[in-house]
Amino acid sequence: MRFFIENFGCQMNDHDMEKMGSVLIDHGHTPGGGLEDADLVIVNTCCIREKAEQKFYSLMGRLQRAKRKRNLIIGVTGCIAQQEKEGIFERLPFIDFSLGPSNIHRIPEALENASGASAFSAFADNGRSPSLTIRPHNTRRGIKGYVTIMKGCNNFCSYCVVPYVRGREESRASADILAEVAEMASRGITEVTLLGQNVNSYNNGSDDISFPRLLKKIDAIPGIRRLRFVTSHPKDISDELIGCFGTLRTLCESIHLPFQSGSDKILSLMNRGYTASEYLEKVVALRERCGDIAITADCIVGFPGEDESDFEATMRLMETVRFDGIFSFIYSPRKFTAASALPGIVPPDTAHERLSRFQKLQRTITLDANRRMEGRRVEVLVEGPSRNCAEELMGRTRSGKIVNFTGDESMIYKLVDVDIIKGYANSLRGEIPKPEGGKRC
Ligand code: SAH
Ligand code: SF4
Ligand code: F3S
Repeated sequence: MRFFIENFGCQMNDHDMEKMGSVLIDHGHTPGGGLEDADLVIVNTCCIREKAEQKFYSLMGRLQRAKRKRNLIIGVTGCIAQQEKEGIFERLPFIDFSLGPSNIHRIPEALENASGASAFSAFADNGRSPSLTIRPHNTRRGIKGYVTIMKGCNNFCSYCVVPYVRGREESRASADILAEVAEMASRGITEVTLLGQNVNSYNNGSDDISFPRLLKKIDAIPGIRRLRFVTSHPKDISDELIGCFGTLRTLCESIHLPFQSGSDKILSLMNRGYTASEYLEKVVALRERCGDIAITADCIVGFPGEDESDFEATMRLMETVRFDGIFSFIYSPRKFTAASALPGIVPPDTAHERLSRFQKLQRTITLDANRRMEGRRVEVLVEGPSRNCAEELMGRTRSGKIVNFTGDESMIYKLVDVDIIKGYANSLRGEIPKPEGGKRC
């Protein structure tokens, strides 16, 4: 069967999509075609905000029409599947199967049953799931590899649906992770990103090794040149973890550390478990340890009860930290969550107006951070041709910034030194250093 997977959501979902694709290939199916002509379409869903759900339901309308015209098997996976469970078949009676994120290993079974009278479903999420240990083929990302190290979340931030749809935290055995990374290195993967909703809690309460120890062991694997991880929770960043930056050869000088708000009142309503000054202490410690570290974050604007002074506290925190980049979102009430019952709803116009002030400020800060790179020589891992200009190459610095430069194809997938000549809002322009004492033509 020719299959196509439409994916929404976070890096965990991107990786789950790759796992599903690999399971399907192992069972004799072929990737190819698109929504218009594949025999099997799987939609891997996200419900972190209302917009993500709306996108999913409008796509399902298209697929329903397509199914009237051709033989088409439709599967729904991911977080909406888990959120709705069996209820999804009432709303979308034309789908053939639905699997929660801990059940994606059951796709072959779902397909075997797809021609049966009733749809196949699996949403169980208890104990160690085989979905955690599926090793995807390295199908589309060249020298970059992604490894799930844990699933779920126990934090219950009051706005967030993740603990309800991804279940409790569960860490994968370190021996298994190390074997996967070693195998990736033997296939030529040089950059590894460790994935989990809350990687700092890896192996909490277990007698397997801690997260910083895991980083140290991966750092020692020959062939691995760059190591990254997402996502971190500020309350769980230990001194030992901070000490890994600037010490471990492979650990890149970048961290994604969502702060969500700069107001202590809002942080408490969000159940984040830290104050703005505790967050700033972590930032100071990271920068003391590793002056060059790029810090990015997530932030929510318009959370219930946020008044102008709370929002100003957020803007102050941004000015103080001067993040390299921020993903910012308007608060979206979610099913099951405590915040969806909070008073003090911020009117949409106010929330949009705050978001636009927020983004305007961050654009100037990001541009400033990028301009400060001008004149520096940095190591770039070349990912391929540049998106906007096929004659150019695109790569990333260790700090995660995109660099476009003129180079030749032989550089693709290699680490090269590049001089930064210009910083823009979303990227850097570089040039290959001219040979000492000579001229480049
Ligand atoms: N586990 C990660 C990220 C989870 S989701 C973490 O804790 O950092 C990614 C981001 O989506 C969150 O950091 C938050 O900024 C945003 N988000 C989550 N729920 C949201 C909601 N209900 N409304 C708006 N933004 C939300
Ligand atoms: Fe959601 Fe908070 Fe868990 Fe992140 S830490 S996934 S924001 S509950
Ligand atoms: Fe979305 Fe689920 Fe990820 S809700 S953000 S796909 S964990």
